[in-house]
Amino acid sequence: MAPIIVIYPNFKLTEPQITLIQFILNEKEISTPLPSGVLLLDFIRYHRHLTGTKIGCREGDCGACTVLVGECKGYQLHYRAVTSCLTAIGSVQDKHIVTVEGTNLPGVLNPIQQSMCDESATQCGFCTPGFVVSLAGFCLSDKVPSQQNAIASIDGNICRCTGYKSIERAANNITDLLQQRKDADPIEFATTNGILPAYFAGIKARLQVMAAHRTSNGKLEAGVVASHKFLGGGTDLYVQQHDTMHLETIDHLFNKPALNTIGQVENACYFGGATTVTDLMESAVMQQYFPDFRSVAKLISSTPIRNIATIAGNFINASPIGDFTIFFLALDAQLILSDGTTTRQLPLRKLYKGYKSLDKRPEEFIEKIYFQLPAANTRLSFEKVSKRTHLDIASVNTAICISTSGHIIERVALSAGGVGPVPAFLARTSAWLQGKPINNSVIEKAIEIAQTEISPISDARGSEAYKRLLLSQLFKAHFMKLSPGLALA
Ligand code: FES
Ligand code: FES
Repeated sequence: MAPIIVIYPNFKLTEPQITLIQFILNEKEISTPLPSGVLLLDFIRYHRHLTGTKIGCREGDCGACTVLVGECKGYQLHYRAVTSCLTAIGSVQDKHIVTVEGTNLPGVLNPIQQSMCDESATQCGFCTPGFVVSLAGFCLSDKVPSQQNAIASIDGNICRCTGYKSIERAANNITDLLQQRKDADPIEFATTNGILPAYFAGIKARLQVMAAHRTSNGKLEAGVVASHKFLGGGTDLYVQQHDTMHLETIDHLFNKPALNTIGQVENACYFGGATTVTDLMESAVMQQYFPDFRSVAKLISSTPIRNIATIAGNFINASPIGDFTIFFLALDAQLILSDGTTTRQLPLRKLYKGYKSLDKRPEEFIEKIYFQLPAANTRLSFEKVSKRTHLDIASVNTAICISTSGHIIERVALSAGGVGPVPAFLARTSAWLQGKPINNSVIEKAIEIAQTEISPISDARGSEAYKRLLLSQLFKAHFMKLSPGLALA
């Protein structure tokens, strides 16, 4: 497949190193010389003594540490909830960080806090700041103020003692409040109606001045140093290497606009290496060609994690069970790897040399990813089995991308995770299926071939035999979904 030429602004790693990280924390401008790998949570609590933000799991699972990150994209200031326990300060350069203290109104509770009290939605209070901050993010977003969206905005926040009904009622009260917003700007509405403090109205201009000041000083683009330690979202690295990451100075790819672009060139989709899962879910091209992508992504993690986790990070993490890796293997995604000076193209299918071993030099990072968009006769299916439906690592996952002419398979690509040391593209099974009709005996034979291409091991997520059975059943699920009416045992 010929590479797609996408023009990005010049991206060099040889510029001088950033010495200060700048952002706005609530109302206050921050400029710090700390290593860029320091966690935002630690900075907030231990350096700024804002202890409303709580530490629960430190693994992105509980939401106690939730803060908002506001970022100027084009002419708009967008806020997203993130887990500060997995966010490096280097990733929030030129952004606005909102802790629960930053939502306080002078002398009175804000309506979100008041509603949590009125509905008895708090007991020990440990989770409450996370819920308040997430609901503040909902008030600042342009999402339709529906009860469903309000509840979705607090996913990823866990309460251990109150139960969720009272919290749901508090969220519904906020939804009612936002009904009067109509077409008004969310930030303007929240500040002029006493939902959030007035200083929010001036944040966009302050962030623009901050970024412009850096540019006019000839300083380095946000988050780029010449360390050859690259960080996307860090949602797995900070769980695995928490004790060392905070000492690091890192190349923060996450907040580089040049690496955060999604688009379509002719019949291909491309996106930058810093594209988050949420970015992709919200992109017009994915919504048009993969209407199921949102529901697939919602199975995989909570909103605050999807807001920082990158697709490229999922590839580089090299987990044999990486959900997005399996999805994009079936799409034959192509990677453009860059060392800051030169680039090379590599099919995702050739990235993995062995368990956690990659065809990638330390100085290389994924600059962009692209793949062919499905034609009218091409469909994609992703299936996953895990112990919990949501927010769990798969025991086995698989994807299929299939082009058909009537009942004849013209082209097919099958991938599977959890069945070997690397995310697997099932080349022999895919090749055998080409030109075959879709029927029971063909599918049974394909399953037989697939079983010879995998080497699952017994572990905490299931025995070898269980994983083999799962893959067989998930193959059948693909075909039953894609060929309604097909009856398979
Ligand atoms: Fe639990 Fe951050 S401390 S999600
Ligand atoms: Fe105690 Fe939610 S009120 S954890």
